[in-house]
Amino acid sequence: MIIVFGSVGLDIVQSVRRLPQPGETVLTADYVMLPGGKGANQALAAARAGGDVIFVASIGDDDFGRRALVNLEQAGVFLDNIARVNRPTACATISVDSTGENQIVVSSGANLQTSARQLHCGPGDLVLQQMEIPPREIWAGIDSAVENGARAILNAAPYQSIPPESLGKLEMLIVNEVEAAMLAEDLDINTPSLDQACAQVRDRFGLDMVLTLGGQGAMVIGKNRNLRANALPIKALDTVGAGDAFVGAFVAAMAAEKDLADCLVDGSVAGGLACLQPGAQDGVPHRRDIEARRREIKVVPF
Ligand code: RIB
Repeated sequence: MIIVFGSVGLDIVQSVRRLPQPGETVLTADYVMLPGGKGANQALAAARAGGDVIFVASIGDDDFGRRALVNLEQAGVFLDNIARVNRPTACATISVDSTGENQIVVSSGANLQTSARQLHCGPGDLVLQQMEIPPREIWAGIDSAVENGARAILNAAPYQSIPPESLGKLEMLIVNEVEAAMLAEDLDINTPSLDQACAQVRDRFGLDMVLTLGGQGAMVIGKNRNLRANALPIKALDTVGAGDAFVGAFVAAMAAEKDLADCLVDGSVAGGLACLQPGAQDGVPHRRDIEARRREIKVVPF
């Protein structure tokens, strides 16, 4: 079972010609309101990729909360561990410019009341977390996973410092280039390249590292081997949620006990396809869409 423990919210997405400078107002015609939140996006991606998924999170008793869960309900994600709390459902304002570049502000609301006490896991489960709920609950979630015989996977997005004792309990840490650089700085790691920094983190804490590189592909810097994959050849329309699609599909492949190279292929296809539609969830591919494009990803050891 894949248990995603994390954030959920509603995204208000605005297309702008260019992103505003500090203090500047830019005008745009319309906006759309779409389900989002990194935890929800990853739960959806894992379910659409074929995983059995439980989502553990918090919403307010409001219309945003109901709308935020619609796609997850349709995908068959188990939602009984979603708490209704006395804060509004989280909301993100997302501006996307004509080149696909984005700017996101998240109002955390109900996500701040998510508690590791909601999380129940057991041997064989994969517990997947991100960093949009209170840090103490993330660390408690990792502790709970390990104490109950589950494997803990953390996507360090958006980046916050991670205690060494929590890093030491992770099975896998997934980072993009910005997060990898911040992690390296936090840990006083000085290397000429991010993959070397990830290798040092792997060696220091005994975990598998996954480094995503956007249009340059993705890497596994693993305990047993290092792999590199190209990105899906696509013209990106909107990269919001692409990392979440990668993570969800990657973890669904892990839960299906696929080889790490195949996990990298599934994640890379899903991350690429997610860039073809606006918003974080509309472009999240189903299993059949992933299968149709797998041959376009080549994985090489390094
Ligand atoms: O990763 C994309 C997500 O980040 C959006 O859905 C938004 O909610 C923010 O949390």
